[in-house]
Amino acid sequence: MRDKYTVVQRLEQRGYEILGKGAFSTVMAKPGANTVIRVSSDATFPVYAEWAHSSRYAGWFAPMVYEMHTYKWGHMARVERLDATFHQMRGILELPLDARYSAQQWNKQFPGFSEFVDKVTKAGFCGDWHPGNWMVMRGSDGRAARVVLTDPQGGESCERRRWTYRTLRAA
Ligand SMILES: Nc1ncnc2c1ncn2[C@@H]1O[C@H](COP(=O)(O)OP(=O)(O)OP(=O)(O)O)[C@@H](O)[C@H]1O
Ligand SMILES: [Mg+2]
Repeated sequence: MRDKYTVVQRLEQRGYEILGKGAFSTVMAKPGANTVIRVSSDATFPVYAEWAHSSRYAGWFAPMVYEMHTYKWGHMARVERLDATFHQMRGILELPLDARYSAQQWNKQFPGFSEFVDKVTKAGFCGDWHPGNWMVMRGSDGRAARVVLTDPQGGESCERRRWTYRTLRAA
């Protein structure tokens, strides 16, 4: 496939609908399907998916990725379908949205959360934690049963951020 736009066009012709778009990615699915296809030029996601798989967070705090194809222009991945971004859950999700700094609170509702935040930060995926990049899987009661960091970025100095935060807290 030549480029991202051609891929998106072809998938639309095959009945895939666009669920969301960001700076790098278009996420598409067939109506009712429980997986999505992520067509993206973001270089971090394949690395994050690999890390999540090997550290056993795929299908837990990270999305389950079933298939990954990489191209010159980016990648195409088949990923489990999640229900809603934190943006869309505003008012339903009863937790502060700055996950990094309120991890202990989150941990009470989602055991293992603090450890995940620590590990994912140490692994270097500490950027772009905005509420559009966190999603939930809803339980039968409609509330969040699982929270998932779908799409972090790397590159920034994770350790320095942590240090700054701790310093501020101690002050
Ligand atoms: N696994 C998923 N299941 C259902 N919808 C999804 C899934 N992953 C992403 N989406 C939807 O697609 C949108 C864009 O996805 P994503 O955040 O990966 O794109 P992006 O280009 O990296 O965005 P940005 O650069 O703004 O973070 C999300 O906001 C969400 O609405
Ligand atoms: Mg994103």
